[in-house]
Amino acid sequence: MTTIISTLQSEVKGTSSTPTMSSTNYQGGLVKHIKEPWEYISIENFLSPDRWQTIKDLAKKQLGLYYEWLEKDNKVYFNKENAKRNKYNGYEDTDIIPETNELFYKYKLDHREYTGKLKKVIHWAIAEPGWVYPAHCDNRARISTTIMYVDPDHSDGTILHANPSKNDKGDHEAADQESSYTYEIPWKPNKVFFHNPIPNKTWHSIRNSHTTPRITLNTFLVQEDLVAKDRCYSGKEIEI
Ligand SMILES: [Fe+2]
Repeated sequence: MTTIISTLQSEVKGTSSTPTMSSTNYQGGLVKHIKEPWEYISIENFLSPDRWQTIKDLAKKQLGLYYEWLEKDNKVYFNKENAKRNKYNGYEDTDIIPETNELFYKYKLDHREYTGKLKKVIHWAIAEPGWVYPAHCDNRARISTTIMYVDPDHSDGTILHANPSKNDKGDHEAADQESSYTYEIPWKPNKVFFHNPIPNKTWHSIRNSHTTPRITLNTFLVQEDLVAKDRCYSGKEIEI
């Protein structure tokens, strides 16, 4: 396994609770660039303490909405065919976390080809205890994916798979072969996991084996014309 670890400047700049240029200058903490089973970046202490508190406060509000959602009989499904994978998704219509925008351009990992100016989709994902999502590659519209671990203090990180499956068609199909190797990116609040989805390569799965809801803040750079029109996330693209 090839691992490059570098510790970046951890100076805190700015005290604003809204994402301004000064408050987003924070350079984050420990950066790891990992290449096995496929290439990704993880960054601990990603947000400055002030910005992290803002995100934690927003997460608390989302948790309230999650409990309301749990009570609903007619839930809106991400994809009806995969209803059992269902979790709470809370979409944002403004860029509450501009700090993730530069990762794609800064780290220059391999990525699929795209056309046009990328837009951003932001959603809170809250998974119930016992929830599992099988090994998949991210949807064809997603050129880059950044997952922030938010709450609770202890939970399950994303599990990366070395998997020979070739059945990914760009819409979260579950791998049809066994994985030869898996690696869980350890959970730690205020840590981000960044990768560029590559078809039939960047297989990963997610679960919540704990007893409390698992909250992540997920951001994607998307090619807008590839975003499916009949899903709950349709039309949620933000100009950045
Ligand atoms: Fe995914």
